This record gives sequence, structure tokens and C-alpha cells, in this order.
Amino acid sequence: MTTRTQILGTGFVTGEKLVKNADLAKLMDTSDEWIRERSGIEQRYYVKAGTGTTDLALQAAEKAIADAKIDKHEIDYIVFATMTPDHYFPGCGGILQSRLGLGNVPALDIRQQCTGFIYGLQVSDALLRSGGAKTILLIGAEVHTGFMPWTQWDHLFGEGGEAPSDAERAWNSKFRDRTVLFGDAAGAAILRAHDGERGLLGFELHSDGSTFKDLYVPAVGFAQRPYVTPKDYAEGRHIPEMNGRSVFKQAVTRMPEVVKSLTARLGHKIEDLDLLIAHQANLRINEAVQKHLGLPDTKVFNNIQRYGNTTAATIPIALDECRKSGRVKEGDLVCFVGLGAGFHWGAALLRA
Ligand code: UT7
Repeated sequence: MTTRTQILGTGFVTGEKLVKNADLAKLMDTSDEWIRERSGIEQRYYVKAGTGTTDLALQAAEKAIADAKIDKHEIDYIVFATMTPDHYFPGCGGILQSRLGLGNVPALDIRQQCTGFIYGLQVSDALLRSGGAKTILLIGAEVHTGFMPWTQWDHLFGEGGEAPSDAERAWNSKFRDRTVLFGDAAGAAILRAHDGERGLLGFELHSDGSTFKDLYVPAVGFAQRPYVTPKDYAEGRHIPEMNGRSVFKQAVTRMPEVVKSLTARLGHKIEDLDLLIAHQANLRINEAVQKHLGLPDTKVFNNIQRYGNTTAATIPIALDECRKSGRVKEGDLVCFVGLGAGFHWGAALLRA
């Protein structure tokens, strides 16, 4: 008898504050038109001050537990993917375990950025099918706003506060290619192994560290001593640096390649796919991937327009929306694919 990992429940939450593209133009030289045209993004959500990644993860986890109709004490392992943890260390997994009141179950933090949820699915599948765990809570959660270089939050949220000075606007604009893309959110899934043919069918994952500087945070790391300095802060080296063109190019070649390779290895054709859920980094990337694969619009789901790029949270959020709106039906063949900083990329195939 085949044993496969099934997704019993999903849930997600976003940051509390809705921020439209035009709102960002209050802080820096950008426009709704530029952001929409280059990325497809129309709006994103930011947390209010004081909400951290584990806060969002807790709410998403509670929704997924309710959706799965399990008692939270059935969870015996947490896998937590984030690149924006509450603290440099420890990771968020243990903090979430304590806040959920799960007892001393193991909590594993993984940091594969935009591919974090797919790596998390593979690790979870291995744990569940080898008997290392019975019920896993898998989380992808991010609060990117800690990276934002501006200080005029009240002004951004329309809650008073001064508009930025010319110098502040110039500083904010230095980072505009990155800051307009990201949003805060968390997605969660409850996973369990069952006998039968439905569930996760297989994975193909890759990494290539040789180009890591195309998307990374230069400071706040132990390659230097001390690991963060006033000079780093003054120069903005605690904010991610990105070679957007290079990331774009990698994404539009590697994502279709890995989808083709995985489906073929598992004995399927691209036409067999009922739904492609790709990481939501840029709508133009996903349109190019769709074109490479020759998939019709009915077989591809995108929601970056509403949430921006939420890194490890994009795939569980999209999955939750597809499950709850009937876009994923029992028996459908669903492919997840992502690529992100590291660089890490990969795909997973699910018989829903
Ligand atoms: O999960 C992985 C995360 N990252 C990604 O997936 C990023 C992948 N790359 C991208 O999505 C695109 O490269 C971007 C959306 C980041 C940028 O689009 P692009 O078409 O590659 O633009 P560019 O960086 O080449 O910049 C074109 C122009 C520049 O002005 P000049 O030099 O032509 O005068 C930029 O300064 O657009 C300017 N620009 C902006 N203008 C208004 C850059 N960011 C902005 C902005 N608003 N936010």
C-alpha cells in the first residue's frame, strides 16, 4: 500500500494595514503605474508596529488547525520557514510552539526564502513517511516591513505624521526597486501521512550558492566583526540588495525547467496538470513561466496583485485561496514551484 502525505487544512493571515501602490508614492519616487506595469502588484498588507512574524504565524496556524478539524495537541512537529524571524536567534518555530501551547514537540526552522515552503513540504513529507512525525504544522511567514528604510509610517498609513523631507524621500527612493514588491503575511498547512494514492507525489529541489549576492543582506552577519555596525546602518547595508534583472532571468528559466523535469520524472505531461501554483514574486515572471509551459489561464493561479511578494508565505496563501474557492478539487494534479534568494528553487507535485 502506498503512503502519501496529505494536506488536511490550510489558513492564512496578512498584516493589518492595507497599503496601495499610490500610498507608497507618498514616501518615495514611484507610481502606481510603474509598480503595476513592472510587477503586477496593486496593493500589499503591512503589519502595524509591534506585530512580528510569530504573531502572524500563530493566527495562520489557528486557522489551519480549525480547517483541518484536528485538536492542536495532535501536532507533534513544527516546520517554520521564514527569512524575517522575530530575533536573530532563536528561530520562530520554538516561540510558536510555546505560544500555541503544544508542549515540547520539536520545532525546526528552515531558511530557504521564497522556496521555503516547498523545502518545508519535502522535509515534512520525509518526516511523516518515515515515522518521525504523525502530524506536522508547516508555516511560511514573513514580516518584511522591518527591512523598509523609511520612518514615516503614520504618514504612509494616513494616520497623521509628517511627509518625508526631500533628503528622506531621496533616501527612501534608493531602495524603491525592492520595497515596493514585498508584503507581510503568514500561511500555514497541517500535514499527515495516509495510505492511498492522494497526496504529495514527489519533489525536485535545487540550490546554487554561486550567485547569492544577487539577492542578499550584506550586513547583520557573522562574516564581519561585529556583525552589525553604525556604518552598516547609515549606509543601509542591513537592507536587502538585489540584482532584479538577474533574479528575473533565473526565475523565468529555472521555474519552467524544474516543472518540466519533475512532471516527466513522475510520469506526467504538462497537459496533465490541473493547476500551477507558483511563488508570487512578480506577475510578469509568472506569465513568462506560464507561456514557457504552454498552460492556459484556467490552470494558473496568481494573487500577487493583492498581497505583493510575501516570500515563504506566498504558496500556502495561494493554496488556501484555491482550496476554499474550489480552484483545487479532490483528485486534481497540482504543481507548486518557486525560486528565491540563496539561490534555491524547486517544485512539488500533489494529487489533491
Ligand atoms: O522572490 C524573489 C524576489 N525578487 C524578485 O523576484 C525580483 C525579480 N526582478 C523583478 O521583479 C524586476 O527586476 C523589478 C520589478 C525589481 C524591476 O523591474 P525592471 O524592469 O528590471 O526595472 P529596472 O530595475 O531595470 O529599473 C528600470 C527603471 C530604472 O530607472 P532608469 O535607470 O531606467 O531611469 C529604475 O531606477 O525603473 C526605475 N525604478 C523605479 N521607478 C519607479 C526602479 N524601481 C522603481 C520604482 N518606481 N519602484
